[in-house]
Amino acid sequence: MEEKKTYYITTPIYYPSGNMHIGHTYTTVAADTMTRFKKMQGYDTYFLTGLDEHGQKIEKKAQEAGVTPQQYVDKIAEETKALWKLMGIENDDFIRTTEERHMKIVQKIFRQFYDQGDIYKSEYEGMYCTPCESFWTPTQLVEKDGQKVCPDCGRPCQPMKEESYFFRMSKYQDWLIDYIETHPDFIQPAKRANEMINNFLKPGLQDLCVSRTSFSWGVPVDFDDKHVVYVWIDALSNYISALGYGTDHDELFRKYWPADVHLVGKEIVRFHTIYWPIMLHALGLPLPKQVFAHGWLLFGMDKMSKSKGNVVYPQPIVERYGVDALRYYLMREMPFGADGNYTNESFLTRMNADLANDLGNLVSRTVAMLEKYFDGVIPAWTNVTDETVDAPLWEHCAKLPKLVEEQMDKLQFSQALSEIWKVIGECNKYIDVTQPWVLGKDPDKKNRLSTVLLMLAECVRFVAVLIRPFMPSTPDKIFAQLGISDPLLRSWDSLSCFGTLPAGLKVKKGDALFPRIDVQKELEVLSGKAEKKEEKDAAKQEKKEQKAEKKQEKKPIPEGCIGFEDFEKIQLRVARVLDCERVEKSEKLLKFRLSLGSEERTVLSGIAKFHTPEELIGKKLILLANLAPRKIMGIESQGMLLSAVRQNEDGTETLRLLTADPIMPDGAEIG
Ligand code: MSP
Repeated sequence: MEEKKTYYITTPIYYPSGNMHIGHTYTTVAADTMTRFKKMQGYDTYFLTGLDEHGQKIEKKAQEAGVTPQQYVDKIAEETKALWKLMGIENDDFIRTTEERHMKIVQKIFRQFYDQGDIYKSEYEGMYCTPCESFWTPTQLVEKDGQKVCPDCGRPCQPMKEESYFFRMSKYQDWLIDYIETHPDFIQPAKRANEMINNFLKPGLQDLCVSRTSFSWGVPVDFDDKHVVYVWIDALSNYISALGYGTDHDELFRKYWPADVHLVGKEIVRFHTIYWPIMLHALGLPLPKQVFAHGWLLFGMDKMSKSKGNVVYPQPIVERYGVDALRYYLMREMPFGADGNYTNESFLTRMNADLANDLGNLVSRTVAMLEKYFDGVIPAWTNVTDETVDAPLWEHCAKLPKLVEEQMDKLQFSQALSEIWKVIGECNKYIDVTQPWVLGKDPDKKNRLSTVLLMLAECVRFVAVLIRPFMPSTPDKIFAQLGISDPLLRSWDSLSCFGTLPAGLKVKKGDALFPRIDVQKELEVLSGKAEKKEEKDAAKQEKKEQKAEKKQEKKPIPEGCIGFEDFEKIQLRVARVLDCERVEKSEKLLKFRLSLGSEERTVLSGIAKFHTPEELIGKKLILLANLAPRKIMGIESQGMLLSAVRQNEDGTETLRLLTADPIMPDGAEIG
């Protein structure tokens, strides 16, 4: 049996200095999409991703979090794996540089370099950028706000001096220039190759400092354990250590190396196209066939990054709109290689336009018409065609797999999707031109109608097969609606011939593939404003309910009752007796001077028979404070003191003024 062709693809191994965001997701989805595409074409694929867990930055982060570096990276490793699962990533291995299988190989490689004279010991003095784990020569630093900063990340560098091991990069410089120039596919896009040659190789390679003594979270140099191996030598080795290179079990290495492509962000091209090739060459190993540098997902004008605090995480997007929508957007929005802006608005707009409208409508219209005009059964092909309208679509769709393949082979994901969407657009136009609803009214046109719907169903099948690497779960929903369960009809191979959809399949309309969304509303949800809006809405609702309750109160009040509104009119206050005296010429009346805190009142009360003035001074009584003032014996009484009355058995009454708790302040409202 002929052996399958292999395809080995890698992502960078990411720093677990925080959780992975949409930028890391971008590279990982690209690698996964490519793997799925090659697998569909029959390749024996291997897809590696993982984490770069050593270095001073991680050591610091762990310290800040109050845990050991290992505990710190273990947690992020679990979270990263969960994220990749959520994103539908089907990696074959997940390498972590703290794993023994990796560390052993790094030590072995380092020793070999030392033994063969590629590495020597000396002293290093230079400027160090901790976040990038990079040493820079004074001429490489750039000036920013009067400070010398790292040319990669723009952050300040610190002077550093230490005994170090150095790799004789200079020795391999000419070989590498020649290699790059004679292998135009090695660095893609090509402009990155020019950058490397002109900016780094031609000016002359410095020997690279490849060990550190200033921290210990790294792979120890096994013959000099004050030193740990420079994190980039450690990290780059992952691409072969994961395959078992240098061990007795190196079957994977023998099968898959050299890698077909290392996908990397443009900021780490230098490490992958200068240091890594030199390391491999020094080990006597072939170089990866390609290093592809993709652009950055920007946020506004800035690179999205944890340190800049402008990070978008994929989880909330996926939870709300599904994995396929986000994967589609990431692969469609910007050409692979160029920078692009991530905005919620462009994501939501694309979801509506490309997924709900273009693709979703095509599928639902096709299935609905098959149900309506053919009782949901795929009819047989007939020879009733209309060359002028059928042939262009037919020929275009038949060519589509090739067009997609051409773009995928160049890692032009966005272009590949654009080719597929051109056919989707053409199908939607074909419906407008052929007007199946008009054909459906004329029984003589039944065969013509069957051709039209078959054309559409077959195009939809092609599309469903081709989008699977990008959107792993949508095709199954389409196939279910078309009644296609045969794996052959879902395969790449089945696209070699247009028009193979067999008669008799039973179609079944399903839910919309992608619901149309209200972009404005969803923008609010994604920006968190929706929550605030919900709170406001809740407050509004509460007010409404209160109003409704009040209305309720306006219903007739039963006899003998007062309504709440009536009660609310009554102002009862705590009143402290400042002074109290009998009113001349009256047996009943006592005259009070009362304090309500902010004001004083004069009140007359007919209680002289029951209380002596002396006993009342200083007492806190209860005053009906908004009773209309009234003159009694020439004195204005400004309120009424409340009292309780007891009817005695002998027919007399006992009256007592009501008092308030003495801790209540003068004037306290009662209600
Ligand atoms: N650990 C090194 C790589 C070692 S590989 C042997 C590293 N890690 S990283 O966590 O900083 O990840 C960098 C990579 O993540 C980029 O090269 C890119 O693949 C991806 N991205 C991170 N942020 C990104 C964007 N904002 N946009 C696009 N890709 C981004 O460097």
